[in-house]
Amino acid sequence: MASYNLAMTSSLLQIQQLGWPTHWAEIYGREAPLIIEIGFGSGHFLVDLAQKRPSTNILGVEISLPALDKAQRKVKTLGLPNVRLLQSDARYLLQALCPPESVAAVYINFPDPWPKLRQLHRRLINVAFLHLLATRMVPGGQLDVATDHADYALAITEALENTPYFHSRLATTFITEDNERLRTKYEQIGLDEGRICQYYKFARVETAVPQTYPIPKEFPMPHAVLQSPLGLDEIEAAYGRFQYSYEACHINFMELFRAKGDDALFVETYIKEEPVAQRLGLVVRQREPGNFVISLHELGFPRPTHGVQLAIGQLATWLVGLNDETQILHHNLLPEALPLNLREV
Ligand SMILES: C[S@@+](CC[C@H](N)C(=O)[O-])C[C@H]1O[C@@H](n2cnc3c(N)ncnc32)[C@H](O)[C@@H]1O
Repeated sequence: MASYNLAMTSSLLQIQQLGWPTHWAEIYGREAPLIIEIGFGSGHFLVDLAQKRPSTNILGVEISLPALDKAQRKVKTLGLPNVRLLQSDARYLLQALCPPESVAAVYINFPDPWPKLRQLHRRLINVAFLHLLATRMVPGGQLDVATDHADYALAITEALENTPYFHSRLATTFITEDNERLRTKYEQIGLDEGRICQYYKFARVETAVPQTYPIPKEFPMPHAVLQSPLGLDEIEAAYGRFQYSYEACHINFMELFRAKGDDALFVETYIKEEPVAQRLGLVVRQREPGNFVISLHELGFPRPTHGVQLAIGQLATWLVGLNDETQILHHNLLPEALPLNLREV
């Protein structure tokens, strides 16, 4: 086991360098229970937790960059070796980076309530999220949630009472006073403004939870080689933005760029495939007149996912459709990335 000497390194993790799933013991340099705080905001609760529980590995996940910056400075000033911070959506962290049954405890303090009707789908806590959480938490793992938003509280109560994967550690679903915990910034604001806070203390069931949230897979770097009498100018002129969906994967082919002095076109592409969303570049490179290769540009360290396979297949299909003499010479794509008539080469 690696020694526990990571105090000198930055607490801020680089998301692109984290494996699917991540071996958290390697990140912290030791085996210890992993505790996650989702949406740590000002970071007070997180650093307090890290100080009170030095024998655990603490992971804070936030989407807000200013919050990460502030928390990172706090962690550095206090010299807390057991804290790591990650800029990510909590759902990505849980599904892609956390192995099944690897998280000992989760804190969600005052999650964004998204009060407007059209924003309700953005709320983090619902039955599906609790299922995902349960797949990644150890049996008996503790889930603590707090909110001061009456309507979100109703929804959280309903979700927690309806999920088969958690049960309350209290005699009731929630309590409205908890003087044992450190108050968070939003908790204090809620109390100052006269709102009632609801505190939920649940535990993951000891029985198995259906693993319906698979860890996303990476495939070998995909490519397709084509022969075509067309030149890059003609391909560039024919291009227009287009979209493609396959099952739960949605691909948006956006701007096309031509690098100066380079025999390549660069297609900015957005690929959404839960829990991963990537904005990346697909490259159509002319290796010699009449011969093109379509591949994934390395800029930004994109992951070669199933969606990237589909995107390269679609771009190749579009190119083939431009001209009768254009054809795919070879590729390493999955069968579903190409229409039936283009699969065999
Ligand atoms: C209302 S604030 C609460 C902050 C802090 N927990 C507190 O109690 O003072 C909610 C925080 O959750 C973060 N957040 C919202 N959705 C998130 C998500 N999907 N993953 C991670 N963090 C998220 C927001 O950026 C924000 O900082």
